[in-house]
Amino acid sequence: MLIVGQSGSGKSTLLNMIGLLDRPSAGEVVIDGMQVARLSDSHRAEIRKNKIGFIFQSYNLITDLTALENVMLPLMMAGNSSNHYLKNKASLLLKKVGLEQQIDKMANQLSGGQMQRVAIARALVNRPALVLGDEPTGNLDSHTSGDVISLMKKLNRDLGQTFAIVTHAKENFGNVDRIITLKDGLIERNEVFDGDGRLM
Ligand SMILES: Nc1ncnc2c1ncn2[C@@H]1O[C@H](COP(=O)(O)OP(=O)(O)OP(=O)(O)O)[C@@H](O)[C@H]1O
Ligand SMILES: [Mg+2]
Repeated sequence: MLIVGQSGSGKSTLLNMIGLLDRPSAGEVVIDGMQVARLSDSHRAEIRKNKIGFIFQSYNLITDLTALENVMLPLMMAGNSSNHYLKNKASLLLKKVGLEQQIDKMANQLSGGQMQRVAIARALVNRPALVLGDEPTGNLDSHTSGDVISLMKKLNRDLGQTFAIVTHAKENFGNVDRIITLKDGLIERNEVFDGDGRLM
């Protein structure tokens, strides 16, 4: 799903509400039937950790950790299992995003596209219900941006992973299942498409 609209239309604000990074001053956010806007910070952090992955425009990797360690972090925070198991799980995902050769490289030695693929692996590693991306290809050149978009579409198809992506360049995404257009903080259009890109 894409979220589009002019600068200042409220895309980041919406994403931050859905991702429990921000609280609405009015209205509600409902996740799995639960009203989450007024829950405690710790309860919200728990939901965020278990249900939501984030991909940011500026990658937000920890630059003095390796690619593998960056992807292991959310697993470690979720507090499960042995180091060996975490390493296996994180390296499998790094292979899935095409970074088999870069697993032990420091994050600050990777290219922008490689960093964003690490960030995608990190967002997916806890198998969240939803991955949110605020202009995740905004810092990438058009070729690399195309690669990252193809990767997200492949993961969407192969793993059934839901992505909600804010973008200024929806034409780069090809066919998607839904486009929400915001204007002045309101939903102006909510378009649902079939597999051939036809409006339903
Ligand atoms: N916490 C807040 N309370 C009130 N208004 C806010 C808050 N955060 C952002 N705004 C305002 O809401 C509007 C939408 O901002 P937002 O950052 O969501 O836009 P955007 O669609 O992401 O724009 P861009 O494409 O430039 O990133 C802006 O006018 C902004 O100043
Ligand atoms: Mg924004």
